[in-house]
Amino acid sequence: MSPVAPGRLSGFGTSIFAEVTADAIRHEAINLGQGFPSFDGPENVRRSAADAILGGRNQYAPLAGERVLREAVAAWMRRTQEVEVDAETEVTIVAGATAGLVDALLGLVHHGDEVIIVEPAYDAYEPAIVMAGAVPVRISPARPGYRLTEAVIEAAVSAKTRFILVNSPNNPTGRIYDEDEWDAIESAARRHDLIVLSDEVYERLAFDPARHQCPLGRPGLRDRTVTISSIGKTFSLTGWKIGWTVACPGISRRIREAHQFTIYSVATPLQIGAATALGCTDESIERFQAEYRTRRDLLFEGLEQVGLRPIMPEGTFFMLADIQQLGVDDDRSFCRRLIEEVGVAAIPCSAFTQGGDSGPVRFAFCHGEATLREAVRRLESVHKILA
Ligand SMILES: Cc1ncc(COP(=O)(O)O)c(C=O)c1O
Repeated sequence: MSPVAPGRLSGFGTSIFAEVTADAIRHEAINLGQGFPSFDGPENVRRSAADAILGGRNQYAPLAGERVLREAVAAWMRRTQEVEVDAETEVTIVAGATAGLVDALLGLVHHGDEVIIVEPAYDAYEPAIVMAGAVPVRISPARPGYRLTEAVIEAAVSAKTRFILVNSPNNPTGRIYDEDEWDAIESAARRHDLIVLSDEVYERLAFDPARHQCPLGRPGLRDRTVTISSIGKTFSLTGWKIGWTVACPGISRRIREAHQFTIYSVATPLQIGAATALGCTDESIERFQAEYRTRRDLLFEGLEQVGLRPIMPEGTFFMLADIQQLGVDDDRSFCRRLIEEVGVAAIPCSAFTQGGDSGPVRFAFCHGEATLREAVRRLESVHKILA
């Protein structure tokens, strides 16, 4: 066989995000597809990393992460979630949430284990599961509410199920699990002895009255949860790729066994900067949320005015538009035409499902108000591709 014959990840193809961005550049469209902010994080945080570089903090960090950052994560969990964690044995610093998920899977999976993922699902989940030698099993809560119920989870559980991977606040739906949904997850996890892999990268992007709940705060899930998060979204520093996993000592040992052979050591000066970020004031977090609420409302009103049927997100910086209600049955071709004929890029939600069934489209509002206003102005001509 040729050494370059398709590998086990070839079937996943090229990321739709890269395609949309390339198309957006080609057609000079405003890119509301990309899922990262078009502005930089706080200056004092960037300065702290720069000082660390100039101050000689440029060699490998310890495997589990710089102590100052692990302690900052523990303090952050106490402050934002009222969850007590031990910085020494329960916090591991990883190269962004994505690498944290990979480390957790590589460290915990036994060949052939099944991992339940919830559609629509972030595109890195399934390849990560396959790389670890496990089998993804998708569940699809009913649209448009995307509510997770015990019945939906139960229908997917088999003798081989060992994990359930959840993401709240959710990309792309903007949903935040409520008490009943966490009860359903907890009850299934305990009944079937599952580990909950909880991707919480949008943890501070929760809009009143919705509240983000970290499953580590539930006594019944405390010893069977891996919380995975990062500074990327909360501090508008996605390019730093500094994240963490938090889990009981037994699970953390397994994660570190994988971490020592995947990344081993995460960028030292950026860890110092990340510790500064997590030490921010409560007021700065509130300001950050208020700014995002303004952007969210601006986009929501704009999409509503042009007739695109937006769904108000409870969290994240994503907003779905329910184009199916407008009779659109091919979200990919709709997004192509949106770029070419309207000058705005969005992501088709079929990219987040295995079957690729047409769904809503996702707009990101992690952009300045002027950019969002111009996008809304251009969207006034969307009727020509809806006709
Ligand atoms: C749900 C979700 N998880 C993880 C990530 C990536 O996080 P990180 O950059 O920290 O790896 C993203 C980024 O878009 C995301 O949407």
